[in-house]
Amino acid sequence: MKILLFGGAFDPPHKGHVSILKKAAQHTDFDKIIVMPTGTPTHKKGCVAPFDVRLHMAKLAFGDIGENVEISDYEGTNLKDDYTYLTLEYLKEKYDNPHIFMAIGSDSLLSLNSWKNAQQVMDSCTVLAFAREDDVEDDMAEKEAELEKTGADIRFIKVDPVEFSSSQYRKGFGEENRDFLPQNVQNIIDEYDIYAQDDITRWKGTARLLAKLLLDEKRYIHTLNVEKLAAELGEKYSLDVEKLRVAALLHDIMKNASYDILLHRASQSGIINKIEDKPKQTLHGFAAAHYAAKEMDIQDQDILWAVKSHTCGRYGMQDMEKVIYLADMLCEERKFDSKDYLLGIAKENLDKAMYAALQHSLEWIKSKGNTVDTDSLGALEYFAQLAGEIC
Ligand SMILES: [Fe+2]
Ligand SMILES: [Fe+2]
Repeated sequence: MKILLFGGAFDPPHKGHVSILKKAAQHTDFDKIIVMPTGTPTHKKGCVAPFDVRLHMAKLAFGDIGENVEISDYEGTNLKDDYTYLTLEYLKEKYDNPHIFMAIGSDSLLSLNSWKNAQQVMDSCTVLAFAREDDVEDDMAEKEAELEKTGADIRFIKVDPVEFSSSQYRKGFGEENRDFLPQNVQNIIDEYDIYAQDDITRWKGTARLLAKLLLDEKRYIHTLNVEKLAAELGEKYSLDVEKLRVAALLHDIMKNASYDILLHRASQSGIINKIEDKPKQTLHGFAAAHYAAKEMDIQDQDILWAVKSHTCGRYGMQDMEKVIYLADMLCEERKFDSKDYLLGIAKENLDKAMYAALQHSLEWIKSKGNTVDTDSLGALEYFAQLAGEIC
């Protein structure tokens, strides 16, 4: 079996990537072509779009090249380190030791022997290196000779110069750059402001797209309802409504993630000391905050805490956390007896609403025979103190 592997950040994928893949596909008769967006790039730091958005853009850009093309989520969803030698090991095992051809740019070829376990990489695949004609004759020939001493199988594919890069696009070079992206990729970027220079605009648009991509229909509608009520309460209490929108759009973003991913992200969110004490259903808030920080580079503590504490609250909650907690519980599609009563209080006084909402939630949790989280007990104590019921 012959596999062509084409990895990259694809942040965003542009027409140069598409033409390289098409050219590589002609090199031999491949049974499978795997396009693999990098998770957290090892050699190229600083992705703007999160993995899930880059995966989606890759599907748009490369999806119609051929029936044997697969856009793989492997590097963004496995819990191992993101190294090429591990990806090659994975493909060797999955496809029963295929002949892998790895397509890379000439710049990557120059640094190939500094990659982690470079010898293993070179032993595991044939390298298809893309280079401009004059490069092949100069630097590349020298590099090829050097690498081939290690037994590497390197084949050059000559390409026309591409006077464009994804990093140029991200920096924003004006309208003329629009021609360099596939139309469907450009459309999604425009619709969701994925590369907006302003942080809040970019976070909000990206979070909205992520909610659409990662959540089922019911949870997506819930998320939009939480956003709506959070914005309404935010206006009322003169809070930063745009930040609240970002937190609302992200609060359940890990709701459909596997338990392994939840545990992995939650345990790295830096606030769970005893993860084994946390009820499973509370982990997605911590995991979502980790996702926001790591995948979207959101370091705003107001947003991160509002996402983190929405499942169980905490002692000393701030106003934005209260709003997301209450909006999550009292948004449009929620139906329970005391909802209108609690919503009425939420529009009068956030602390009183939190105290009443927590009492209601904890009673409900106990009635189902479930364990009450220690953070929820801390939150209840905090709002009871504010209400003057305990000292
Ligand atoms: Fe939630
Ligand atoms: Fe929710």
